[in-house]
Amino acid sequence: MSLYAVFGHPIDHSLSPRIHEAFGALTGRLVHYERREAHPGGLAQALAAFAAEGGRGANITVPVKGEAFTLAARVTARAARARAVNTLSWDNGAWVGDNTDGIGLVRDLTVNHGWSLPDRRVLLIGAGGAAQGIVGPLLDAGIAILAISNRTPARAQGLVWACADARVRLAAAGGAAGSRYDLVINATAAGLSGGLPAPLDAVFEDAIVYDLMYGPKARAFLSHARAHGAREVADGLGMLVEQAAESFLLWHGVRPPTPSVLERLRTEVD
Ligand code: ATR
Repeated sequence: MSLYAVFGHPIDHSLSPRIHEAFGALTGRLVHYERREAHPGGLAQALAAFAAEGGRGANITVPVKGEAFTLAARVTARAARARAVNTLSWDNGAWVGDNTDGIGLVRDLTVNHGWSLPDRRVLLIGAGGAAQGIVGPLLDAGIAILAISNRTPARAQGLVWACADARVRLAAAGGAAGSRYDLVINATAAGLSGGLPAPLDAVFEDAIVYDLMYGPKARAFLSHARAHGAREVADGLGMLVEQAAESFLLWHGVRPPTPSVLERLRTEVD
């Protein structure tokens, strides 16, 4: 039996083992999937030990996705665009890096929630690693405009330049006041401390509002959006399950069904 694991820190509460084992059961495979600590600077050593034990696939989470990108012997085009790796596959004695976060988000938005992306105006709040991982697939999905707003504007500007796409721009100075968007995505880490991203002057009225975080960490932002007129809100649990399904596909050659897994986790995280 091949060995799989998720690496990051903190890793104790990662849902990935539960998700992958459930996918295994749904597709008739016995999947052994563990959690492994990887502190910044420690991923190379952790991965070497894992490969020696028979590790054949790894998911990478905060804070070592960038480190995984530099460690991979080869990376796919979507990982190169995200400049981050969330999935490693062992291939002929070397780790190949990929990134399934963005496609996981797009699948959650379009398949699970039934929201159409072509021609939509999108406001992305945040310009860190999580934001960087999703811009490419959002653009590929045909959105009309991607405005980026960030607490530190220079970082938003850097992401705008890195996208090199005429549809991508800096949100209006001081945030996004006055501009209306169809979809507002929170990709900041503000929810980790239970707070709202600041400054926050987005217009939520009639918008669809999504937080990449899930459960209690997404609550402050989504409650704020709902109180300010958002049409629909959703947290990132579906993205978590969908990115995992894409990793499972890379490793096992079959895309597992996700609805029952998502439904089961939903009752636990809220
Ligand atoms: P991640 O990998 O989770 O994206 P990161 O690369 O450290 O982590 O980026 C964190 C993002 O959340 C950044 O956009 C950060 O804004 P800055 O670039 O100004 O640091 C944003 N962020 C974190 N806490 C925030 C807060 N309280 N209010 C607004 N933005 C916040």
